[in-house]
Amino acid sequence: MKPVFKQSLSLIAAALLISGCQQKEADTTTDTAATAAASTMPPSADAKVPDYWPEITFEVENSDEVEAKVDALLADMTLEQKVAQIMQPEIRDVTVEDMRKYGFGSYLNGGGSFPDGNKQATLEDWISLADKMYEASVDDSLDGSTIPTMWGTDAVHGHNNVIGATLFPHNIGLGAMHEPQLMKEIATATAKEVRATGIDWIFAPTVATARDDRWGRTYESYSEDPEIVGQYARAIVSGLQGDLSDGNIDEEHVVSTVKHFVGDGGTDGGDDQGNNLADEETLYRIHAQGYVHGLNAGAQSVMASFNSWHGKKIHGSKYLLTNVLKEKMGFDGFVVGDWNGHGQIEGCTNESCPQAINAGLDVYMVPTDAWKPLFENTVAQVKSGEISQERLDDAVRRVLRVKMRVGLFDLPSPANRALSAKADVVGSDEHRAVAREAVRKSLVMLKNQDNLLPLSPDMNVLVAGDAADNIGKQSGGWTITWQGTGNKNSDFPGATSIYSGIEQAVSAAGGTATLSEDGSFEEKPDAAIVVFGENPYAEGNGDLSNLEYQRGDKTDLALLRKLKSQGIPVISVFITGRPLWTNPEINASDAFVVAWLPGSEGQGVADVLFTDKNGDVDYPMQGKLSFSWPAKPTQIVNKDDGQKAQFAYGYGLRYGEDDPITAPLSEEAGADEDLVLAHDIFVRDIQKPWHLEVLDADGQHVMTSNTMSVKGADVRTTDRNVQEDTLELTFKDKATVRFAAQFPEDLRDYLSDSAAIQMAVQLSQADADVQISMMCGEDCEGSVALQDFAQQTTQWQDVAIPTQCLKDAGVAFDEVFSVLGFSASAPVTLKVSDIRIEPSMQDVPTCP
Ligand code: BGC
Ligand code: BGC
Repeated sequence: MKPVFKQSLSLIAAALLISGCQQKEADTTTDTAATAAASTMPPSADAKVPDYWPEITFEVENSDEVEAKVDALLADMTLEQKVAQIMQPEIRDVTVEDMRKYGFGSYLNGGGSFPDGNKQATLEDWISLADKMYEASVDDSLDGSTIPTMWGTDAVHGHNNVIGATLFPHNIGLGAMHEPQLMKEIATATAKEVRATGIDWIFAPTVATARDDRWGRTYESYSEDPEIVGQYARAIVSGLQGDLSDGNIDEEHVVSTVKHFVGDGGTDGGDDQGNNLADEETLYRIHAQGYVHGLNAGAQSVMASFNSWHGKKIHGSKYLLTNVLKEKMGFDGFVVGDWNGHGQIEGCTNESCPQAINAGLDVYMVPTDAWKPLFENTVAQVKSGEISQERLDDAVRRVLRVKMRVGLFDLPSPANRALSAKADVVGSDEHRAVAREAVRKSLVMLKNQDNLLPLSPDMNVLVAGDAADNIGKQSGGWTITWQGTGNKNSDFPGATSIYSGIEQAVSAAGGTATLSEDGSFEEKPDAAIVVFGENPYAEGNGDLSNLEYQRGDKTDLALLRKLKSQGIPVISVFITGRPLWTNPEINASDAFVVAWLPGSEGQGVADVLFTDKNGDVDYPMQGKLSFSWPAKPTQIVNKDDGQKAQFAYGYGLRYGEDDPITAPLSEEAGADEDLVLAHDIFVRDIQKPWHLEVLDADGQHVMTSNTMSVKGADVRTTDRNVQEDTLELTFKDKATVRFAAQFPEDLRDYLSDSAAIQMAVQLSQADADVQISMMCGEDCEGSVALQDFAQQTTQWQDVAIPTQCLKDAGVAFDEVFSVLGFSASAPVTLKVSDIRIEPSMQDVPTCP
């Protein structure tokens, strides 16, 4: 949950009066602000679907033939075989023997998941697993089924889990090209590389229209503008699948998925997996255009989104999945769930969730060992009638229809397909050339003082910054590993860093390029190119509370200023997954180019920054922002919301054009502390995103009801002023009870001198020894003694612990995994209530 800003409260309050909705968080996005007034609660399951949801126009020639074959198959299937078709386990939690026994309809590898868990797996290793799984699926000796299985993967910027694959720029960079035709080539190349590893199906494109750049998945979005998202969806789907209208996919194409249906880019506060509060027409107009166009291009599957719409998880929304998508739009492929997303529906667990299939989900993505109980429970739920036979048959029919349509029954096993293990496909020169072209076209220039760029290649350049020679950093999340972290340049055979691209260009023309991460040099260079920016992240790990670059730790700014103060012309190349407030960095640069997350072909950057030997521009600077660039860290700006961006949607300077900005940009961050509201942790109830867990000698125990008793502690809710407004923690053995989250929270808004964690506490012994801690990742933690802030009493008392004391103890507030932990080694009982972080308090105690 993001801190919210008071400025929009009156608007929201007015909206609440009109809409009659329950209290919700304020939001500064115009999506919500503009539409809140008309905001509706989600329609009921049987509401009439408004006419603006269009019918899909895509048609397949041989559909009667396909339907007849599907009917024949279905007629012979047992209940267990049917349920197996709608289960999708993950390669870390399922074996070839499980496949033989159950015959799953599909399976996946998640981000950073490889055959045998081997990051360096070769093409042969991928093919070998694909082949064994396929053979086991068509082997009827145990399950009586010969239906081939399908392997799905996240090839979201090229075949990104595979060593040596071509990595294309992430979607946000592609959006800046505004070039659907090149998108199609990228998709065609990606499909081939995926086929070369025996995989049939890609969980892409992401067609989110990201409207709040604090969202950690903004870089997976092509644009804040639904028009670009729609155009691209069409291009990507047709590039991935080829022409499917003849009812067949060839061996060079794959099944595609438009994801995540729907509204993932419009959650309140930009929260990953958060709550979208848009009214239905806005949901359609802004967030659903990728589906309209992607499905019209023939996408055969749709992935349900983790997010909620007006508080209800989409995985459980019959209205959206069935009434809108299947009935009104007429989608006849299948809906796959997201990573145990069904388990997040109210009343569901990962192991049991009839609600999802009843709402219209067709395939459960169940990547943990939950697949087995889920399989058994689903079989039982069909037997008991909780899931109707009709609904199950419809789900299976959809899966089989797609398998038929894409020719899976006719293809040989993965090892025997046209592109299998073809080393000249994966990372081929041809594909790298497409990626390099995309890098060139995606660069956006925000500043070019005195036409400093393009540079002549015969000069002596210093190449600085920690992203200059770091292929992992220039590639972002979803790169070999899920988060894109933990990679070395040697993990990218065939790839080029931005530095090495510059080095090649310059040395070929008689100049020199010197790599110096910290910007130090012996001989003064003619110019410095500084490559810096965001470190890789994926999903919720990238959520921010505001858009200031390197908030509280401006090391890159210091580097730029150091170079500039020595009279060296400074060119910034900014690596980022989103627009960030970088006014100070822009002011400290003579030229500023946004390179987004370019991927494996770093030379594309040098291609544009330098002229050729003769001084001619071979590759123009041509990218245009497909996202508005904020004028303040707290500004959530979109092209059509009437606010003034620092650089408007569509901005991007060309070579030779006069830079219209001559005065320095405002460096007033304006992150006014008065605007930040309290961050509630436990106020009557545990507040999102936190959950309560106990760590003791037996391990980690997550609290799922209102009492829990484990070796180290008993935890229960109890009453103080109102029902269950208090937590009672009884320590019996060494233990920590803490509020933790799945993804880290950015709590830098709560680092002012007057910010404090505040709570009401009652101790069973006045002199109890309790430690208060915060945790920010592996080996990142800080703690203080409660006694230093509390009175020695057994009465209820208010305690305030300045956040600065925890910072001094070693906590990094940009990535907080556990916001508050209580530890004790001797038996003691502690009651706590009303726990929140106050951004500014009077009379904050001093740190001991
Ligand atoms: C993501 C999806 C992805 C899936 C499988 C989820 O967490 O939201 O985009 O396809 O994992 O890796
Ligand atoms: C897994 C990834 C997966 C992701 C999806 C992670 O826990 O390690 O493989 O893609 O979850 O959210």
